[in-house]
Formats: sequence, structure tokens, C-alpha cells
Amino acid sequence: MTTHPSHRPRRLRQSPAMRRLVTEHTLSASALVLPVFVTERDEPQPIATMPGVRQETLETLPQVVDAAADAGLGGIMLFGVPLARDAAGSGATDPDGILNRAIGVARTAAAGRLTVQADLCLDEFTDHGHCGVLDAQGGVDNDATLERYVAMALAQADAGAEILGLSGMMDGQVAAVREALDAAGRTDVVLLAYSAKYASAFYGPFRDAVESTLVGDRKTYQLDPANGREGLLEASRDIEEGADIVMVKPAGPYLDVLAAVAERSPIPVWAYQVSGEYAMVELAAAAGAIDRDRAIIESLIGIRRAGADAILTYWALEVGRSLRDGHKAGGAR
Ligand code: PBG
Repeated sequence: MTTHPSHRPRRLRQSPAMRRLVTEHTLSASALVLPVFVTERDEPQPIATMPGVRQETLETLPQVVDAAADAGLGGIMLFGVPLARDAAGSGATDPDGILNRAIGVARTAAAGRLTVQADLCLDEFTDHGHCGVLDAQGGVDNDATLERYVAMALAQADAGAEILGLSGMMDGQVAAVREALDAAGRTDVVLLAYSAKYASAFYGPFRDAVESTLVGDRKTYQLDPANGREGLLEASRDIEEGADIVMVKPAGPYLDVLAAVAERSPIPVWAYQVSGEYAMVELAAAAGAIDRDRAIIESLIGIRRAGADAILTYWALEVGRSLRDGHKAGGAR
């Protein structure tokens, strides 16, 4: 007996033009943000575990800003790589610290063409590698860390940062920083809360990128990968505290959390495709295991499909350029 299906979804997949016509999600350069590492050394430095990414210098940073603006990106997210670190992370609040100087250089170079964003966290600046200051028992002291974040926020705002990425996962960090900025008359500064930030193995290459040697782990402040509901709680608390944008991080392994936050959030929801997600694709492609370009687009479109309004990704420049040059970056290519 021959069968004649009454439903034939394949009709809409029969040609490239037909597939393009029914594509549900696309990428756009304006909703991509490029993370940029800035070293205090004189020369750009390669990052062994992130082929294709390097630490920039204050001298090379303007070229990256230009390239990002030319590609139409929405912004760059700056990370500082200081030469000296101490227990309090002093370099984070020093106006001459590498990150604050980089913010100023980037803001001037950007000239309004894209937004300048800064990572607000102490781990790049502390000698123990934790995101906060330690108490007498060696634990991360939440409330003492909030005071450091407030000082860091004011320094970053003074340096010219337009969006502060609160990535430390301390309780009350959004409220503390918002209140201090407002009291200082900086009601204009946007707060991006890394609300659902998980204690993830996928940050591995990032440690290389910022030359951080962590003593212990971050499990007392970052979320347990097993907990989805807790990610939603963090996002709703951050919204109550005054966040302007919430973020889920990493992206790929947490698409369920991203989708749930996106469904509930009244404010923009972003996702951070982290260093390990980048490295997995680059290294697998270098080994001939996967088609690099298709895997990049597939990973990004998946994050969009789950509900991210914008994405931080180390491929932002490359993807932004290809969108500018007229390649359709959707599922249907
Ligand atoms: C904290 C911070 C981290 C990342 C972004 N901000 C590291 C961490 O929390 O361990 C990781 C980003 C990545 O892996 O690409 N400063």
C-alpha cells in the first residue's frame, strides 16, 4: 500500500530560497558584543587555548574598536590583564589600572559608533583569583566585596564605561552599584547583570586569557550547574534591584535557563558564549572533526532561538563582518 501523507513539512525545505523565506531566527551585528582582553605588556599576546584570540595592548585597542565599529557590532566588553595583583584587587579601582585606562582609550576610539562595556569583577585583579575579597577564614566576604564593586563601578563610570557587566555573583551587587552610581549623579550608566552565571568548566580558557590562577573554586558564589530554578530567582532579584539587562552564562549548556528567563523577563536578556564554547569549536574544527563556519553559526542561532536578544561571543567580529558583506547568517544557508 502506498501512503500519501497529508502533512508535508518538506515542502518548505525544498530550495534555498524557500528555506530562507521561512527562517525564524537570524543574527544581526548590532546584537553581537565582542569581548576584548587588554594587557599591560608592550606587545599583543597570543592566548594558547583560544586560537584566533589575543590580548590587545592600549596601542592596538583602537584598531579593534575601529574594526568592531566597521562590522556594525553593538559593543565591546573589556577585560583588563594587569601585571601586578594583590589581595584587594587594587588595580580595579585605580584610575591608572589597565582596565580603566582601556575603557578611556576605547571610548575615545569608539566615538559613539558602538557601546563601551566593562567587566565589573575582581578576579582579574586579585592575587588569589577570586571575584571578591577574602575574610579571615579564606571565604569570599560578600559585603566587603560590595564595597569594592561600588568603588570599581565609580572608577569605570569615570573612565567612560557606558555599560557595566556585573559578573561577580555577590548578593546585592546590582542594588549596591545602582545606588552608588545614582548618588554620584551617574544615572546614565547601564547595568548588565550576569544573573544566571554558573560555576562552569567552560571558563577554562578564560583563565589563560587573563592569566589568573584561581586558588580553590567559585562554587560558593556561582550557580550549581544542576539548578535551573535558582537561575530564574537570580534574574528576578536582579531585575528588582535595578538591572537594565540580565544575562545567562555560559550559553550553550544553559539554553533551557536562557529560554525560561527570556520568557519571563520584562527587560533585555543576553547570553555569553564563553571561552570554552569557543575553544571547543575551534579545536574540534582544527582536528577536522566539524565544519567550523557552520558550527559557529549553528551555535549562535541556537542561542538566539532560545531567546537571547544579544550575544557576547569571541566570534563577533568575524560574524559581524560576514553579515555586513551580505551573507545571510541564519539557519537556512
Ligand atoms: C569574571 C568573568 C569570567 C568570565 C567573564 N567574566 C570568569 C569567571 O567567572 O570565572 C568568563 C568568560 C569566558 O570564559 O569567556 N571576571
